[in-house]
Amino acid sequence: MFDIKMNEQAARHMIVEVGRRLYERGYIAAADGNISVRLEGRRQLLATPTGVCKGFLKPEMLVIVDEEGRKLQGDLNPSSELAMHVTIYRLRPDVNAVVHAHPPVGTGFAASGIPLTKPLVSEVVLTLGCIPLAEYGTPTTEELAQAITPYVPHYDALLLANHGALTYGADLEDAYFKMETLEHFARIALVAHLLGQERPLPPEAVSKLFQIRQRAGRTSPTPSLCQVPTPSGRATEGPANANDRITLTRRQLVDLIAESIEATLAALIDENRSST
Ligand code: 13P
Repeated sequence: MFDIKMNEQAARHMIVEVGRRLYERGYIAAADGNISVRLEGRRQLLATPTGVCKGFLKPEMLVIVDEEGRKLQGDLNPSSELAMHVTIYRLRPDVNAVVHAHPPVGTGFAASGIPLTKPLVSEVVLTLGCIPLAEYGTPTTEELAQAITPYVPHYDALLLANHGALTYGADLEDAYFKMETLEHFARIALVAHLLGQERPLPPEAVSKLFQIRQRAGRTSPTPSLCQVPTPSGRATEGPANANDRITLTRRQLVDLIAESIEATLAALIDENRSST
């Protein structure tokens, strides 16, 4: 028989451990970041308290809230970012843990308005699909919850413009490792960019990785955002249902058009070269 009390205790210890890891790895500083988990068998969440350093938490400092984020139990007040966590749990019944942090390289991309959507590393395409950038929303307000809403059903890791990063998963270990993958990939993407000759995976390779994702029952990222091609080579449809509605920001649309113009120009230059 499932023991609720044990589960809560295990969750408390795991949150303390993940807070320590986030702080030691420099993904959070001072009172940054927040962590929450669903408490199994209860319609409740266990969350970090607001305004304290999450690197030095103690199990008794954590706060129990209801599914709307209202405090039920605890000496301290819960995270000021619970609206964001609650939105994820509402939209993703498969998610049982959420991690928010400010990892420096990932957050650097977020502060520069650059999503991590290029298929540069096969493992990242397999695990996360890609990492889009949600528009800026004022921290601690509903704006932030609204900014992430279009992305949450399709992605497990997000950059938050001018703010930080957000990952979530089936359990807290999973959500935390996605944060590690996000920051690791941000470093790799930065180095590839600095070396001046990024070579994203070709469309056929990305398509195969997405087929593996689909077979494993992973989320279906918006194909155009993750640069998933169709068999005909176009990136506007993909393994996800072609009739899916997609949401694009103005900047993403402009990027897509710019990429398409660049690709057409490159093809024309190649054609010209080979005919002379
Ligand atoms: P809380 O301490 O209220 O969770 O806020 C930390 C944070 O990082 C806000 O973005």
